[in-house]
Amino acid sequence: MRRMVMMMMMMWHVEGLSSPTTTRMWVPQSSRSAMGKLYNKHRSAASVGVGLKMKQMEMESVEDLRAHFLQLLSTRRSPQVPLEVLPAKPVLEPLYQGPPPPKFSQAMESCPKADIPNFKQLLYEENLYLTTEEGEQGKLPVLILSMKQTGHSKRPAVVFLHSTNKCKEWLRPLLEAYASYGYIAVAIDSRYHGERAKNRTTYNDALVSAWKKGDTMPFIFDTVWDLVKLAEYLTGRDDIDHSKIGITGESLGGMHAWFAAFVDTRYSVVVPIIGVQGFRWAIDNDQWQARVDSIKSVFEEARKDLGKDAIDKEVVEKVWIRIAPGLASVFDSVHTVPLIAPRPLLILNGERDPRCPLAGLEVTISRTREAFKKANCADSFKVIAEAGIGHEMTESMVKEAKNWLNH
Ligand SMILES: *[C@@H]1O[C@H](CO)[C@@H](O)[C@H](O)[C@H]1NC(C)=O
Repeated sequence: MRRMVMMMMMMWHVEGLSSPTTTRMWVPQSSRSAMGKLYNKHRSAASVGVGLKMKQMEMESVEDLRAHFLQLLSTRRSPQVPLEVLPAKPVLEPLYQGPPPPKFSQAMESCPKADIPNFKQLLYEENLYLTTEEGEQGKLPVLILSMKQTGHSKRPAVVFLHSTNKCKEWLRPLLEAYASYGYIAVAIDSRYHGERAKNRTTYNDALVSAWKKGDTMPFIFDTVWDLVKLAEYLTGRDDIDHSKIGITGESLGGMHAWFAAFVDTRYSVVVPIIGVQGFRWAIDNDQWQARVDSIKSVFEEARKDLGKDAIDKEVVEKVWIRIAPGLASVFDSVHTVPLIAPRPLLILNGERDPRCPLAGLEVTISRTREAFKKANCADSFKVIAEAGIGHEMTESMVKEAKNWLNH
């Protein structure tokens, strides 16, 4: 039995699949206890898999990882509530956190609009809240722009996700451009952002609190829970073509797009912009600094609590395990990005982005390429690393994303 499992581990490894056994090998000792239940489930799933045909096992491992992620998302959560739609008002003075954002973003404004006379009069705006769980953070603010329509034709939808410290209103120029091409263009406030923030430190406070109490997952995962609920809402609308729901976003929004697409196949075309990275690779290769700097206070707090003079890779790993369990192990890009296949996936990064170092994506990219090849749609996967560009969404990325979403 032991030998069989060993053999399977090797086969999985060779085939580059995101299997429970390969992930198990990569889970560092320290995160095993934190992963607890998840880890054990993986192990038993692997044992059950012995003797089944490889193909069946592949399918199972894909579904397993999704189920495990969903299971994680459903922990640390207030009681479940039915998905409800509540009316909301347009936000006239959106709350931006961190340093004041520029008033104007060249990249945001750069998406070409279809030439529609009286565009503003024909633009239809919806503001609403979706209930995604009990409590304050369980009210998901949603902004939707589309063209007023007289007929009943179904339209494609696109969800665009904002970056750290911004909010849904920041995306308005992009939403308008997508609306002009006939999309139902959707934006949300991520957890502790926009309408879900009280003041300019809410997001940082939430990260620190998660480190202290371990009761929420404010980095990526809690928002992904909301995006699963959003998919439920969008596929309940009869003006949307349910087979055409794109998801994309910038930076933190790119990470949200990646994880939402991994866990929820209702998102049918996917463009993470400057978001996909190797969290494990960054720790192992001492390349975590730029990522840490983007949300420094939680790492500073952890450093103090751990009695260290400086933030080091142990601090980084402990923070991820505590506030986003599995992020640097079982749910890292190397395991989760390939599972977006066969849905069209375009990864847009900057060649010199220190927050998403390209070297940290080599294995992720090769495994993902393999997964698309296996699904007979090698052309549905593309990576563009824009030469000379750091952590920045460029006009060219905006254009590439728009073309890809047209899939
Ligand atoms: C922001 O709000 C929180 C919670 O109400 C409060 O504890 C914190 O001191 C506030 N921070 C600022 C900068 O006002």
